[in-house]
Amino acid sequence: MQIDPNSPIGVFDSGVGGLTVVRALMERLPFENIVYFGDTARVPYGVKSVETIAHYTTQIAEFLLAKDVKLLIIACNTMAAVAAQVVRDLSPVPVLDVIDAGAFGAAQATRNKQIGILGTPTTINSNAYAQAIHRYDPDIRLYSQACPLFVPLVEEGWLDHPVTRLTAQEYLKPVLAQEVDTLVLGCTHYPLLTPLLQDVAGPNVRLIDSAQAMAERAAILLKEQQLGNPNRGAPRYEYFVTDVPVRFQTIGERFLGRTLANVHVVKW
Ligand code: DGL
Repeated sequence: MQIDPNSPIGVFDSGVGGLTVVRALMERLPFENIVYFGDTARVPYGVKSVETIAHYTTQIAEFLLAKDVKLLIIACNTMAAVAAQVVRDLSPVPVLDVIDAGAFGAAQATRNKQIGILGTPTTINSNAYAQAIHRYDPDIRLYSQACPLFVPLVEEGWLDHPVTRLTAQEYLKPVLAQEVDTLVLGCTHYPLLTPLLQDVAGPNVRLIDSAQAMAERAAILLKEQQLGNPNRGAPRYEYFVTDVPVRFQTIGERFLGRTLANVHVVKW
């Protein structure tokens, strides 16, 4: 199949959290057109079964492929953890997922080979980060921590709230006790907590933001496969969501770091 470099990059997530990945892509690849899909009607995925997540993921990937995307990016750690292969099996275009990107970044960053992983319960239970990191270096020791309260706290906008700080201290205590030097932010929402988490973890712990790592991976892939958009005009950004919940605009713009326009609602 001939892939058109002018086509957009398709990015998807269970909700608006994947806009942290879109934001990193916009900064790293400013000429690329992007189509985003957020399943705002069915979020959160992080507590759903593997079968349900695989089914929803297939629907979304097929939707974006019908938009003729040149690259599919699974921005949701939970979908990447349990359904990345489902997407690879059905996609005729390259597929990147945040877990692989974050794992690569973490394996490169660690000096003492002790890494902590933070994620939703489904992501942590899947063991996907451990498997991905061990593909890069089997000697790394991993300490995982599910942080189910972080997603609602971020959506509430409590990015530097005493409740969030206390929650982070509780979640990080057992991981930091293992003297990790690298901490993977294994969920779309966690990059918004970076200042607070860095403060709790201390200056000697390196935080791996999988959104940044993903933007870097995407840039490398587009270059290698000569799929970068040759057009130097202003890029087109389009957003598809399955619902427009209360405070959608405010929360979405917080993730994206800019105005959210061109939003279409898909009714399934
Ligand atoms: N997007 C999800 C993730 O990165 C977090 C939100 C959810 O649970 O659906 O894991």
